[in-house]
Amino acid sequence: MRYDPRASSQEQLPALLAHRSRAAGRLSRPGPAGPSPTWRAAWRGHTEESRIRPVPAPIASVVDGALEATTVLSYTRVGHAVRSRLEGWEAPHELAGSGRRVVITGASSGLGEAAAAAVLAAGAHTHLLVRSSERANETRARLTRALGSDVLDRITHDVADLTNLATVRRAAQRLVDDGAPVHALVHNAGATFDRAARTVDGLERTYQLHVAGPFLLTALLLPRLATSAPARVITVSSGGMYTQRLEVDRLVDPGAGYRPTVAYAQAKRAQVELTTAFARRADRHGVDAYVMHPGWADTPGVRTSLPTFRRVVGPLLRNPAQGADTIAWLALARLPAAPAGRIWHDRRARASHRLPTTRAARGEVARLWRRVCRDVGLDPAACLEHHNDP
Ligand SMILES: NC(=O)c1ccc[n+]([C@@H]2O[C@H](COP(=O)([O-])OP(=O)(O)OC[C@H]3O[C@@H](n4cnc5c(N)ncnc54)[C@H](OP(=O)(O)O)[C@@H]3O)[C@@H](O)[C@H]2O)c1
Repeated sequence: MRYDPRASSQEQLPALLAHRSRAAGRLSRPGPAGPSPTWRAAWRGHTEESRIRPVPAPIASVVDGALEATTVLSYTRVGHAVRSRLEGWEAPHELAGSGRRVVITGASSGLGEAAAAAVLAAGAHTHLLVRSSERANETRARLTRALGSDVLDRITHDVADLTNLATVRRAAQRLVDDGAPVHALVHNAGATFDRAARTVDGLERTYQLHVAGPFLLTALLLPRLATSAPARVITVSSGGMYTQRLEVDRLVDPGAGYRPTVAYAQAKRAQVELTTAFARRADRHGVDAYVMHPGWADTPGVRTSLPTFRRVVGPLLRNPAQGADTIAWLALARLPAAPAGRIWHDRRARASHRLPTTRAARGEVARLWRRVCRDVGLDPAACLEHHNDP
């Protein structure tokens, strides 16, 4: 299949990666001319003929801010297309991935797989943490088919289901035992569910998948991240969280009032609040914590869960590589320490609240912290240290 940069579907991924791989092959021994413009254009989702000069920084800030204010344009491929032409936006393959290992949950599909492809293209090692070996092998096959068999020795995988804490513990232990560094941990796995359900651990499913499971994984890997420092924890949230104020009781037990989109957005809001709380504590271990949202990208998850939304936004949806761009960038780029209480989108830190009414009540984040520790069986004092909000 030939890569068509105007297309947005997941089926484009292999062709996009093949295109990138060919270009990466050329770039593995960069000549004086530097990265190929064709390569840059392909990644950015431009036409291959595009030869637009980067917009200089002062204008870039104005353009970026104007896009952000529109929300819709910002989240679609328009936002990515414009911003990727702004000054200082290096292509993902230009990131310094060599010698770095990035662990990605939910890497068997959509944004997780696209993030894995991006970090591989940058020369990093990726560890796919997925639900089944079969899915992992399919993903490895797609990645190697697209990027070339030489990436095979930079892909490892393991199995964990975030809605089953025993599997998370085992996968974390294997990562600790294998002795290799973990420079970045990406919490990408996610889903919406039509109905409320309890997991084998007795927790509300949406809450465990997005909040409790990732929290446990971070806690168990913190020593490994610390010995790999500087290291990063990156959580993939959603712009949907802007509609929600953290309400711990509703998050952990929505009861009869369960609504899929609200439960999802509550969990995504909780990810943002917990990242801010965790970042304060992780810093002393040489670990930075970032939370990002990808905008709206055409992935299997969106196709299954939001068919009407997908039909309406249609060709304006980002492709998975565009949605995953900031994940790979946060994993590998040279970054400032994460500013507290911000969420990253298209490589910039954004406000984590758009409405004053979504700010958490005093003490609510501390309550969430204690609740999550309890739910995953951790002693807060011994593990991630007790959190108190101001
Ligand atoms: N696409 C968007 O526009 C968009 C917008 C905002 C936020 N997001 C967020 O981006 C992330 C990726 O979403 P996506 O759109 O790429 O969806 P996707 O194509 O459905 O991919 C979701 C991934 O999560 C994995 N997963 C689901 N439940 C899991 C569990 N219990 N344990 C471990 N892994 C599990 C899936 O594994 P299987 O392959 O085994 O099912 C899959 O690999 C999610 O956190 C989502 O909330 C996406």
